[in-house]
Amino acid sequence: MKYAQIEWNNGKPYSAEFQDVFFSEDDGVGETRYVFLQQNQLPQRWQGQSRFVIAETGFGLGLNFIVTLKTWLETAAADACLHYISIENAPVSSADIRRLAERWPELQSCYAELLRQYPPPQPGMHLVEFAGGRIKLHLLFDDVDQALQKIDCQADAWYLDGFAPSRNPTMWNASVFERVARCTRVGGTFATYTAAGAVRRGLADAGFVVRKVQGYRGKREMLNGAIFDKRCYIDEQPWYRLPDFHYRQKRVAIVGAGLAGLTAAWALIKRGWEVILLDKGANIAEGASGNPAGLLMPRLSQQPGRDACFYINACAHAVRCLDDLEATAVQRFWSKTGAVLVDKADRLQCMCSAHGFTEDFIRYVERDATRQVTGIALNSDVLFFVDAGWVDMKLLCATILKKCGHALSYRQCAVSELRFDHGQWTIIDDDNDAVLTAECVIVANAAGAGQFAQLRWLPVGPVRGQLTFALPTMTSSKIRCPISAERYITPAVRGRHVVGASYDPEARSPHLSNCDHRSNIDGINRLVPSLVDSCTELSGRVAFRAVSRDRVPVVGCVPDHAAFESQYHDLHHGRPAKGYTAGAYWPGLYVSTAHGSRGLASCFISGESIAAMVCSEPMPVAKDIVDYLSPARFIIRRLKRRGG
Ligand SMILES: Cc1cc2nc3c(=O)[nH]c(=O)nc-3n(C[C@H](O)[C@H](O)[C@H](O)COP(=O)(O)OP(=O)(O)OC[C@H]3O[C@@H](n4cnc5c(N)ncnc54)[C@H](O)[C@@H]3O)c2cc1C
Ligand SMILES: C[S@@+](CC[C@H](N)C(=O)[O-])C[C@H]1O[C@@H](n2cnc3c(N)ncnc32)[C@H](O)[C@@H]1O
Repeated sequence: MKYAQIEWNNGKPYSAEFQDVFFSEDDGVGETRYVFLQQNQLPQRWQGQSRFVIAETGFGLGLNFIVTLKTWLETAAADACLHYISIENAPVSSADIRRLAERWPELQSCYAELLRQYPPPQPGMHLVEFAGGRIKLHLLFDDVDQALQKIDCQADAWYLDGFAPSRNPTMWNASVFERVARCTRVGGTFATYTAAGAVRRGLADAGFVVRKVQGYRGKREMLNGAIFDKRCYIDEQPWYRLPDFHYRQKRVAIVGAGLAGLTAAWALIKRGWEVILLDKGANIAEGASGNPAGLLMPRLSQQPGRDACFYINACAHAVRCLDDLEATAVQRFWSKTGAVLVDKADRLQCMCSAHGFTEDFIRYVERDATRQVTGIALNSDVLFFVDAGWVDMKLLCATILKKCGHALSYRQCAVSELRFDHGQWTIIDDDNDAVLTAECVIVANAAGAGQFAQLRWLPVGPVRGQLTFALPTMTSSKIRCPISAERYITPAVRGRHVVGASYDPEARSPHLSNCDHRSNIDGINRLVPSLVDSCTELSGRVAFRAVSRDRVPVVGCVPDHAAFESQYHDLHHGRPAKGYTAGAYWPGLYVSTAHGSRGLASCFISGESIAAMVCSEPMPVAKDIVDYLSPARFIIRRLKRRGG
């Protein structure tokens, strides 16, 4: 994506493309307070609410958001949460936002927090949290038409804030109004600065009761309104509709104490839940998450698509989480050094032009300049991921555990079965004893997920990987950031590099193999001959990744396989979606697994997604990504193919 081109006229932002101002030239803050807050009866309407959802078309310079955030912090209950969903197809650069922020000293601390966490201009939903999660900004970078199909919310209030309808018709048309109505709860409201007849009629046609009211400072009229009669909307993929379970107690059992389980635990504890974390190991992070080093960088495809979108946004979210965790941690675990990807120049160039990376996010570096970013000269061009780096995963897990505090209790237990009866799950251990009951269970035991009857059909299996700990050479000791090619290498810390990782889906041995050490070392020495020393005796670590058949993580509610088979048995006939009911899911059962070789990127947003599902909140990822990760995809794909 490209940043918006903003012209500054006497310190005021102006869009040459739309030939319009972003907000009132005289008093932008006053206009926001009057048009969007007051005309949606805010803050009065959020008093006494534990959750409030505002959605906006046109994030722009974030002024509406910042004013709303400040008002929320001043007036809402300390334990209430604001979800602010905003759509933008031309993100404004940090530099332009910073320039605007200077105008209002009273907003500067809020703007500084936005700028600290401002996401890269990449398509898809970016979750940014403020005030310890009291405010969650779901910033969806996409065209409004697409974006509205990717949000799945029932907003309490809408801010409709495109440029003037005559100059920005894509923001103000029947399909936009219909989607806005669909994403508004009964009794929800909207406000907009315009009183254009087409907008008034369009919103009324979509089902809103629309009123013309006095505009800001008596200048011109504007519109507000509410929706009371919701239409029946057709769900194009009812099998992916998220179930809305309600729990009597905020208490969850999580099976698996790796990064997937811990991130889910942390996300729920921040929402006031109590967590019982069960693992067969005596300690947390004894599986893949116990590695002493892992690279944090997104998986990139040649072309933009859901996979790259998920990983880029997941990675940016992970960086924000790691920054926060590290800020209060006793021991350092996060080395935000940047990281490079080595590949053929034509492939790297193709990726850059297809994804439209900005220089502040991912930079193309020619071979002659590689020493400046990595510390050593490489033989090929690279991509430099500015905010990436590497993580001591074991220490990260210990830090999350510490953060969870007394709300988390750990039990060593090899879970062999999950039994559902009378609205409760009973957890059975390998001695066939019932160890506890809970209404809500999250399965996060990597490739072990398929051992439970409810997930036996899930195509997820283990892939053995071996790390090699290598002694630095004169050259390798100069490496400043991780370098990733067919193998990866971290900078030397405490006298060793971590070189990874072999990838063997057939092998099951937990013991170190010399052959794997050799292939790790040979792989890295192909980057620069004799980069690491292969003569000394090598040590390392073996672990198993969980990998799904399509290599995409599996995150979401667990479908009832038998019920799906019967509900959708004739899906291959291509009947219209309206002929089907919503998918049947196991009450209170969720899964987060198959994080493959990129768990550092995918686990944080997956934990947050599971917590949002458990609490029936607006999702932190776009709807197309929720479906992309859904465990139900394997059943649906098979049923669609059957007979065809
Ligand atoms: C060699 C190697 C190198 C890697 N390098 C990177 C990298 O550079 N960057 C990156 O992002 N990712 C990397 N990964 C992947 C990353 O480590 C994983 O994606 C991530 O750790 C997955 O976390 P998890 O919690 O799903 O699984 P795990 O950490 O494996 O946790 C699963 C837990 O479930 C427990 N368990 C299993 N069955 C049961 C049961 N029946 N009852 C109770 N407990 C059970 C296990 O004991 C384990 O603690 C690498 C993986 C390997 C193997
Ligand atoms: C008036 S400005 C919004 C000001 C903003 N609410 C604020 O508080 O700073 C309108 C915004 O709508 C965005 N926009 C215009 N057309 C769009 C479209 N089709 N899809 C998504 N965003 C669009 C523009 O890029 C611009 O940032």
